[in-house]
Amino acid sequence: MPILFDEAHQLFHLQTDRTSYAFQITKWGLLAHTYWGKSVRSDYLHRNLELRARSTVSPRPDPTEPAFSPDTMPQEFPVYGAGDFRPPAIEVLLENGTTVTDMTYRAHRIINGKPPLEGLPATYVESEEEAQTLEIELYDSLVGLSVFLSYSVYPTYDAISRSARVVHNGTEPLRLQRVLTMSIDLPHSDFDFLLLSGAHLRERAIYKRPLTPGGHTVESRRGVSGHQQNPFIALLPKGTDEDNGEVYGFSFVYSGSFLAHAEVDQFFTTRVQMGINPFDFSWLLTPGESFQTPEAVLVFSDQGLGGMSRIYHRLIRDRLCRGTFRHQERPILINNWEATYFDFDANKLENLAKEGSKLGMELFVLDDGWFGKRNDDHSSLGDWVVDKSKLPDGLKDLADRIARQGMALGLWFEPEMVSPDSDLYRQHPDWCLHVPDRRRTESRRQLVLDMSRNDVIEYVVESVSHVLESAPIAYVKWDLNRNFTEIGSQLLPKERQRETAHRYMLGLYQTLERITSKFPHILFESCAGGGGRFDPGMLYYMPQTWASDNSDAVSRLQIQYGTSLVYPPVTMGANVSVVPNHQIGRVTPLQTRGYAAMSGSFGYQLDLTNLSEEEKLTIGDQVALYKKIRGIVQFGGFYRLLNPFEKGEAAWMFVKEDRQEAVVFYFQVEAAVAGPIKRLRLKGLDEQLDYRLLHGEQKEEISQVDIYGGDYLQRIGVILPALKGDYQSLIFRLTAAAT
Ligand code: DGJ
Repeated sequence: MPILFDEAHQLFHLQTDRTSYAFQITKWGLLAHTYWGKSVRSDYLHRNLELRARSTVSPRPDPTEPAFSPDTMPQEFPVYGAGDFRPPAIEVLLENGTTVTDMTYRAHRIINGKPPLEGLPATYVESEEEAQTLEIELYDSLVGLSVFLSYSVYPTYDAISRSARVVHNGTEPLRLQRVLTMSIDLPHSDFDFLLLSGAHLRERAIYKRPLTPGGHTVESRRGVSGHQQNPFIALLPKGTDEDNGEVYGFSFVYSGSFLAHAEVDQFFTTRVQMGINPFDFSWLLTPGESFQTPEAVLVFSDQGLGGMSRIYHRLIRDRLCRGTFRHQERPILINNWEATYFDFDANKLENLAKEGSKLGMELFVLDDGWFGKRNDDHSSLGDWVVDKSKLPDGLKDLADRIARQGMALGLWFEPEMVSPDSDLYRQHPDWCLHVPDRRRTESRRQLVLDMSRNDVIEYVVESVSHVLESAPIAYVKWDLNRNFTEIGSQLLPKERQRETAHRYMLGLYQTLERITSKFPHILFESCAGGGGRFDPGMLYYMPQTWASDNSDAVSRLQIQYGTSLVYPPVTMGANVSVVPNHQIGRVTPLQTRGYAAMSGSFGYQLDLTNLSEEEKLTIGDQVALYKKIRGIVQFGGFYRLLNPFEKGEAAWMFVKEDRQEAVVFYFQVEAAVAGPIKRLRLKGLDEQLDYRLLHGEQKEEISQVDIYGGDYLQRIGVILPALKGDYQSLIFRLTAAAT
């Protein structure tokens, strides 16, 4: 059984195939964290809880037990006020004005499967055998407040998800000032703290720093998860690298303002916490009400960062993403944004589609500018009505024209936003997030619709549905191009104003649930000025995300490499664009742009009507190649080989689940002279098998000779040809040779 309760020692042992996570109910009623790491038998786990009298300034509430102090006890869900000076998981403002609570164990139950989280995205099961869930009730009898901690254990995925639900059965209203999803106390601090940080056009770069005493925080206060910090952290004991060593990963399934915090205390132990950002948050809980936190997914691997990533990839692909496209190969698209921006009409679009179709592309995406009077980004968001000056015969006609070219039509929306210059805003100026009598700060000339309001949700569902019903639309790009300011809602009473940001998320999730389930045949891709909301919450509704507005191949190597720490390549929208690149002006070869984009969900974003014959040939070959390899790229195991953050090159590979086929990409960012002959060691292969190696786009039938053992390829590697020049790249394909 994945969850064992050792009655004698009051110990819970949560077991995945390769890991153990254990904690105990102490006689003081606190939950003491006991162990998390590689599997250990249950029998002796209880011996790992070692309490010692340490600091004289640490409170000792039980005079008969000088070794017990909440301040030094490793805990699972600490509260504030009774002697633990480390950050609490929950802080409650009570009716009497105080914030001291005392939450102790009351009951628990173990259930098969995993109940959904009401109104929130979460990992799920398809049958009850896939997971087991432990629910523990902590209770403060003075207040009548319960916290139900939930731990779902996925044995075969090697992951544990955690969340908390607060239920108020007392008599007086109270206010949650902080209610995190999880807290855990690890027994030392010899870790590096790893985070994904960046900016618009430079998303999810990898940073690593040693943990030192005090706090290490990754957070968003922007209303959305943001370009700047991703809701993910990892702790790496010294010496852990890509392939070896232990890693603790924490990923938060939420798209709003979040907190991920690791704090090293006076005794060099480490408390790790994750949850909704308490900054500018509070939640009024009246008697009978409850509050559900989002979930966090905890992963331990003893196979380095690569091992951790592959666990996240499988879980996200199989048990977070949903819908028709979860396991379906994604179409190769041509998006008109960088080809035309706002300057297009039906003929121009049709010509673009025609060229795309000739080159083998499958989906034509009409980006921003098809509605209202949107000839630039100054107006019309909210007015989801076709601009007849550009598309006189409407979307249905456009879809028919595109279909005649053998392609499906996709469409861009930015449904959570409103332009002050729009009919919607003129009719409903109170529908945006705002604070009475204060300036409404614009960003990209737009305001944020208040998704905490039911009337706004209804409008968004109806207006988007109306368009999607008006024409055969096969794909939607759901964009969001600003962060939130003046976060307040016209409809909420003053004592609930600080609930607005989280209520927005609940409203957004409800909207996404309704729209995506109403149109199950549509592939949805989320976007936020590129990768400003690349998080597990959005992936629950939309199985891919536009990874960055930066389409420069070299920038993309780092962006996609960093993103892959948590998110599988199939979730990363990646396009080939023109050179000089529109965002940073770099000129890279078409081949390299192709290989970088082929490492995710592939497409083009350039004017196909303006290509040389040679470019057309190359693009045609790329499209044909991607069709051959996309099953492996999108659904195979992903192995990082060379890190573009470390030196002037990058490499990674995709291995089919049965290890019979693989695809390898190598990128030389900076040319070097007089170096050693390079060998690229591969990973993830079956060392007992022999593999046929196809270089470049070489056709299968002409490559009989290049056969290597899996062991050879992993231990010695492929000898790389000398590449002349910066920004060069290679592809190798491997197929198991018949024995
Ligand atoms: C930002 C997106 O990231 C771009 O790809 C494009 O869709 C623009 N918005 C359109 O305004």
